[in-house]
Amino acid sequence: MCGIVGYVGSEPAAHLLIEGLEKLSYRGYDSSGIATLHNRHFHRVRAKGKLEKLKEKLEGQENLATIGIAHTRWATHGMPTEANAHPHQNDKVSLVHNGIIENADSLKKMLLQQGYEFESETDTEVIAHLLHYHLTQGLNPQQALQKLQETLRGAYALGILFAQDLNRIYIMRHGSPLVVGRGETGHFIGSDALALGEWCQQFCYLENGDFGWIEQGRLSLWNEAGEPCERSFQHVSVVSENQSKEGYPYFMAKEIHEQPQVIRQTLSAYLDFETFGIKEDFAALKSQGYKRVQIVGCGTAFLAGRLGKYWLEGIAGLPTSVEIASEFRYCQKPIETDTLYLFISQSGETADTLAAHEIVKAVGAPTGAIVNVPHSTLDREVDLSLYTYAGAEIGVASTKAFTAQLCALYALSLCLAPDHKKLKEHFEVLKSLPGLVQQTVDRIEKEAPRIAMDLAKTEDMLFIGRHTLYPIALEGALKMKELSYVHAEGYGAGELKHGPIALIHAGFPTIALLDESALKEKTLSNVQEVQARGGPLYGLVSEGALTAEQEASFKDILYLPKTSEEVSPFLMTIAVQWLAYFTAMVRGNDIDQPRNLAKSVTVE
Ligand code: M6R
Repeated sequence: MCGIVGYVGSEPAAHLLIEGLEKLSYRGYDSSGIATLHNRHFHRVRAKGKLEKLKEKLEGQENLATIGIAHTRWATHGMPTEANAHPHQNDKVSLVHNGIIENADSLKKMLLQQGYEFESETDTEVIAHLLHYHLTQGLNPQQALQKLQETLRGAYALGILFAQDLNRIYIMRHGSPLVVGRGETGHFIGSDALALGEWCQQFCYLENGDFGWIEQGRLSLWNEAGEPCERSFQHVSVVSENQSKEGYPYFMAKEIHEQPQVIRQTLSAYLDFETFGIKEDFAALKSQGYKRVQIVGCGTAFLAGRLGKYWLEGIAGLPTSVEIASEFRYCQKPIETDTLYLFISQSGETADTLAAHEIVKAVGAPTGAIVNVPHSTLDREVDLSLYTYAGAEIGVASTKAFTAQLCALYALSLCLAPDHKKLKEHFEVLKSLPGLVQQTVDRIEKEAPRIAMDLAKTEDMLFIGRHTLYPIALEGALKMKELSYVHAEGYGAGELKHGPIALIHAGFPTIALLDESALKEKTLSNVQEVQARGGPLYGLVSEGALTAEQEASFKDILYLPKTSEEVSPFLMTIAVQWLAYFTAMVRGNDIDQPRNLAKSVTVE
C-alpha cells in the first residue's frame, strides 16, 4: 500500500528518497513521486506506473537539495494517474499522505468556496490546500498542523514541506503508522522502518495524534492535546534482508522454497523437540487459564486462524471463534476477560486488524498477536507477541508467512493443551514436517504446471475440502483469485449441494483436496456429485488415499507425500500455492505484484 519516505540532512536527498521508495515497493503501488525543497521552491517529479518511470524522469537532473519527501501511491481516491500521484502541493505546502481522509468532501467544498482549485481527485490535495489556507490566515506551520489535526477525520500519516521552512519536514500521524529514523547524516521518516534500515538503527515510532517536525539533528513532537512530548528512540536492527530473488524468477517462488526452513525456525522457537517440552515464550500464556480463544485477522491471516481453530479446539479443548477484522471491529461482540484475543497479521500494520485490537484493548481483555514483523504497530500494542520466523515476505501473495502462522497456532494449541503428556505424538509428527514440506515443494513445482495449463483457460473454479482441508480450500481459492485473476471459490465439500453445485458444468473445474482422514469417503461422495454433473475434477491427494477406481473420477491428480492428517494441511498449502503461481504464469500476470493489490493494507 502507499509508502512514505522523507529525509533532511547534509546529503542530497533525491537519491536517498528513491532508494527508500525501492525498499517500500514490495507493499504494492501504482504511481510514485518525490518533492525536494530548495530556495523556497519545491521541485516535484511524479510518474504513473513502476518506479522505473520516475527514475527515467529524474535521470540527468542535478538536484542538490538536502531535504525532501517521497511517496508510492496505491489508488484509493481517484485513478492511478500522474495527477493523482503524491506529493500534492501548492506554492506554500508540499505533502505526502498515507491513509484516507473521511471528511475530504466537506473540506473540499469549503476550500472551493474560498477559491481553491484542485488538479487531482485525491483526498490528499485537500490537506495541502487546507494547510495553505491556515497559513494565509496567519498561522505558523506548527499552529496550522494543530488546527489540521482538529479538523481531519480518518487515518493519516503525513510528511510535509513548508516553503517558508527550509530545514524541516513536518510530520503528523493518526491511525496510519509513521516512524522517524536517526541516521548519521540526518533524520528520516518512513511509513515503516524497512525503508530506512540501510541508514538508521535508532527509530522513534509516533503515537496516535503526535505531530511535529524533524531537522538534521533533531526531532520535536507535540501530542494530540498540543503539549510538547518526548518519544524515545529505540535500537532496532532492521534486518536488511536479502531483497534479491536469489536466482528465482519471482519472490513468490523463492518464498515458497523457503517454507521448510521457516517451518523449522518457527516451530523450534516454541517447541523443544529434544524434551518434547514447550518453550518459555508460552509460559505466560499457559498460566492464564483462558476459557476461550477469539482469533481476528484479514485475508490469508484470517484463514490461518480458520485452520488454527481445529487445533485449538481439538488439541487444547478451547472453544475458538474466528472473525475477519473488518467485521469484528463493528460487530459489537461482548468482550470477555477470560478469552484470549489473538490477532494474526504478517505485517502487523493491517488497519482493520489494528482497529479490532484497539476495541479489545480498551476493555482490558488479554491480547496476543501472531505477527511476522517485530516492532510493527500490532507487535507494539499487544500484551504478548508470538513471532513467526518467516523473514521479510516480499511477494504480495502470502505464502511462507501463512505456513509460519500455522506453525505458531499448532504450537500454541500444544501449549494450551490440558495434558502435556499426551503430546508426544504431535511432536513426532511436527518433527517430520520440514522434510515433508521440502519434498512437496520440489515435487509439486514440477507437476503443477500440467494442471495449471488447464486451469488458466477457465474463468471460474471451485476448491473443496473438509475439516482441516476446508480452510486450505479457501486459501487455495484466495491465492488463485489474487494471482491468476480467475474467479475461484472455496467450499466445505459437504456444502456443495446447498447451492454451489448449480455452478457445475463441463467448463467449470473443481479441485478436491483429499487426505487419509476419517472424512475422506464423504469428500469422495461429493466428488461423485460433481462427476455426475459433468464437471472436470482435479485432485490434490495424499499418496495412497485413493483406489484405482476412485482415481478414475479425476481428470488429473497431484499426489502429495503420504502423511498424517495433522500434517496434510501444510502439504496441501504448498500445492495450492504452486497451482495459483503457475496458473498466473500461464496467464502472463505479474506474480509478485498482482493488479490492484497491496502487501500491507494500511487503510480501512
Ligand atoms: O499483513 P496481514 O497478514 O495483516 O495481511 C492480511 C491480508 O491483507 C493478507 O493476508 C492478504 O490477504 C494476502 N495478499 C493474501 O495472500
